[in-house]
Amino acid sequence: MLDFFRSLIQSDSLSPHGICLLWRPELVWTHAISDAVIGLAYFSIPLVLVSFVMQRRDVRFSWVVWCFAAFILACGTTHFLSIWTLWVPDYGIEAIVKAGAALISLFTACALWPLLPKAVALPSQAQLEEANRTLVARIAERDSALEALERATAERDQTEAMLRQSQKLEAIGKLTGGLAHDFNNMLNIVVANLERVERRLPDDSALRDPVAKAMTGAERAAGITHKLLAFARQQPLQTKVISVNDVVNDTLSISRPTLPTNVRLNAQLDPDVWSVRVDPNQLQNAILNLLFNARDAMTGSGTIRLTTRNIQAGQSEQSNHLSADAEFVAIEVADTGTGMPPDLTLRAFDPFFTTKPLGHGTGLGLSQVLGFAQQSGGDTTMTSRIGHGTSVRVYLPRFVENVSVAAETVS
Ligand SMILES: Nc1ncnc2c1ncn2[C@@H]1O[C@H](COP(=O)(O)OP(=O)(O)OP(=O)(O)O)[C@@H](O)[C@H]1O
Ligand SMILES: [Mg+2]
Repeated sequence: MLDFFRSLIQSDSLSPHGICLLWRPELVWTHAISDAVIGLAYFSIPLVLVSFVMQRRDVRFSWVVWCFAAFILACGTTHFLSIWTLWVPDYGIEAIVKAGAALISLFTACALWPLLPKAVALPSQAQLEEANRTLVARIAERDSALEALERATAERDQTEAMLRQSQKLEAIGKLTGGLAHDFNNMLNIVVANLERVERRLPDDSALRDPVAKAMTGAERAAGITHKLLAFARQQPLQTKVISVNDVVNDTLSISRPTLPTNVRLNAQLDPDVWSVRVDPNQLQNAILNLLFNARDAMTGSGTIRLTTRNIQAGQSEQSNHLSADAEFVAIEVADTGTGMPPDLTLRAFDPFFTTKPLGHGTGLGLSQVLGFAQQSGGDTTMTSRIGHGTSVRVYLPRFVENVSVAAETVS
């Protein structure tokens, strides 16, 4: 074997290839230059192939690319050796390199044929694009389904929160109603007896002042129990058929002097507003509560708009608690005050809920408004936006002669 290789690389008795070409320069140089160009091209191709598989690690059958690179490299080397043997008769080395190239070529060819079905089965560019389009469409479908689910969940959460809130108000209403009722009876006894004591006291009695203070305290306590009873919808109502605009105008005339000069009061009363059957004093209390809330919500100057209007059956703006078939009168107090965040709007009607400093608010104003409206067969809604203001609407059922909706629903 060693002798075989020794005799293979033995070149003493050989002549360079140029002799065969009779050293004719046009032949020698055409061969030399062509082989050089082919060799250089063959050497550069493996570089491209190798850098491709190095950068694209995901390419399947990358080992074939490596085989190609080796095969082309070997072929390139044979071309450089062809230039060499033009002048130096190293045909043995050329033969060894050719044999190596032959082996690599054979291996690559043998490996390539079984690969053919697998390569054919690879998805085409068009198939990949189609699959991509399907995937994008499915993702869009899934995203919109997710969005719908999120919307439905948010709506359900909101409905649940509203349900919890109304259940809570119902429970608090029952509790406070019971307490306030008994407490009111006791206060009536206290007030009646204080009045008796006051009547029997001599004009110059030193007890007059403490009795008067006790009376004021008892009357304030009675005021609170009335608000609680209103919230619990247990307020004894003295209902009459009234013109809403008359009560609103009366209320405006007594409340105007209490408003600061930089707060504008703008009344837009529908002259054809329907009559309602409610307790006018309670309605006045409710409007006053709303006006004072609006006034207190103003940090600087602003406007309070008080409107009355008829709500025909089927109009969508009514609250969830009202029958869509019934007709209502809406009294709206809207302000350009601070407004409230949504969580506060939800709690604003809770009894004793107040954001005012200690001693400035009982937190019973809106409870009275809601209790009165519901006890009168109506309802109250509120919309508010931080920095834009708040609007509270009180809906009262329209009074219709002989078919008094309010009289039937007031308990
Ligand atoms: N128009 C409004 N603008 C901004 N916040 C309001 C408005 N109306 C009510 N609120 C908020 O709702 C809370 C509860 O109002 P509610 O009238 O029940 O009680 P109050 O005004 O605090 O006390 P009171 O009515 O006894 O003076 C208020 O403390 C305030 O935070
Ligand atoms: Mg208030």
